[in-house]
Amino acid sequence: MLKLDHQGEQVSHDIVHFKVGLNKDISTRVTLHKFNTIDGIFHAALEVERELKENSFMAAQPEATKAVQKHPPRAASSGVEVDISAKLASLNANMTCLMVFGKKYMDDEFDERGFKDVIEETVILTATPDMGEFIPFLDVFDLQGLTHRMKELAKIFDDFLEKVIYEHVQDSKEDKQTKDIVDTMMNIMQSGEAEFEFDRRNVKAIMLDMLIASMDTSATTIDWIFTELIRHPKVMKKLQNELEQIVGLNRMVEESDLEKLVYLDMVIKEGFRLHPIAPLLVPHESIEDCTIDGFDIPKGSRILVNTWAIGRDPEIWPEPEKFMPERFVGSNIDLRGRDFQLLPFGSGRRSCPGLHLGLTIVRLVLAQLVHCFDWELPNDMKPNDLDMTEKFGLVMARAQHLRAIPTHRLENILGISNE
Ligand code: HEM
Repeated sequence: MLKLDHQGEQVSHDIVHFKVGLNKDISTRVTLHKFNTIDGIFHAALEVERELKENSFMAAQPEATKAVQKHPPRAASSGVEVDISAKLASLNANMTCLMVFGKKYMDDEFDERGFKDVIEETVILTATPDMGEFIPFLDVFDLQGLTHRMKELAKIFDDFLEKVIYEHVQDSKEDKQTKDIVDTMMNIMQSGEAEFEFDRRNVKAIMLDMLIASMDTSATTIDWIFTELIRHPKVMKKLQNELEQIVGLNRMVEESDLEKLVYLDMVIKEGFRLHPIAPLLVPHESIEDCTIDGFDIPKGSRILVNTWAIGRDPEIWPEPEKFMPERFVGSNIDLRGRDFQLLPFGSGRRSCPGLHLGLTIVRLVLAQLVHCFDWELPNDMKPNDLDMTEKFGLVMARAQHLRAIPTHRLENILGISNE
């Protein structure tokens, strides 16, 4: 188990670590600090999760629209191919910063390598099996260099999070219109009304948690579903028709349109079925002995839920390898974790607290991409030639970036420029 020290304060990496022993077990070298106020952290995390569930922090939303407006159209005017995966990653980084920290941060304000690289390395290190965990006496030698690399990353995160807190303290006298997650936590910390100890280290720990949990998830989801749309031109056309009917061609899709977009909803469910971005969820721990399907599971077992395999099980899904959004016509299956055949956000009280926000971003950005542009593949590539290889990690992304050439569909819309 690794401890990361910086300026005498420690940062932890994941709320789930604080809740170890309740019903989920994450055992990675990134378990950084055992707080003696585990109840305090638990309460604070719950408070933030409640905020997340009730308040979608939609300060982030215009960012989605702006970014979609700004980047692809430029390329569209000159028929230049767009690296969609890269654009989505930077869009998601902007939205995450806006939502968690209340403002956008440039990559170099974080670190010379930028958010994506550093977070990607953190996620890869977290998922890499560590010999020291299995053969404890080897731990001290750090033979794979994982602890050393993680310490370097922790210093980058800690410096950045200290800066964010400092800025929030400076701004706290101003009457801010939009609340971000740091504001919420600073309120808990400063109110003195909390029945638990909650200090700066805890604020940093939760900020880090949110940053990592939201940075790659929505972008990777959109990347996969959009790839499927490009591979299935008929589905793309059908979705464009729905958007034309509901939204028309004289304005862009807005959040208020989303609930009317029934086919979009099916496309997204079908995308999640084939490409759950956390294929094994996060490891859980059984809190009591139980029997499932004739298998005895003792208390304290580590449980991996293989949502990837569930999504492709032919006993549940006819022709499971086919991308067919129509399979959801007339179906009540939703994404909230009540239907065990489709669990992209997990299930139960430890399911994803960012579901509402993540889903809104996915729906809005996908709708914008499909509504605003027609898309074709570069170099006369055929849809079936698209490389669908997966890159395994905590978040399972496309191994190859998706690239495509957009052409405007909404020529007359203000805000879409040809610059
Ligand atoms: C499409 C986007 C997203 C997907 C598919 C997704 C998926 C997941 C999954 C599968 C889990 C593990 C659940 C389990 O093991 O049962 C999880 C946990 C979590 N997610 Fe998300 N997520 C997304 C967006 C977000 C966003 C935007 C945030 C924060 C703003 C967020 C914050 C978290 C946190 C804090 C946890 C840990 C919860 C706990 O352990 O109690 N997620 N997410």
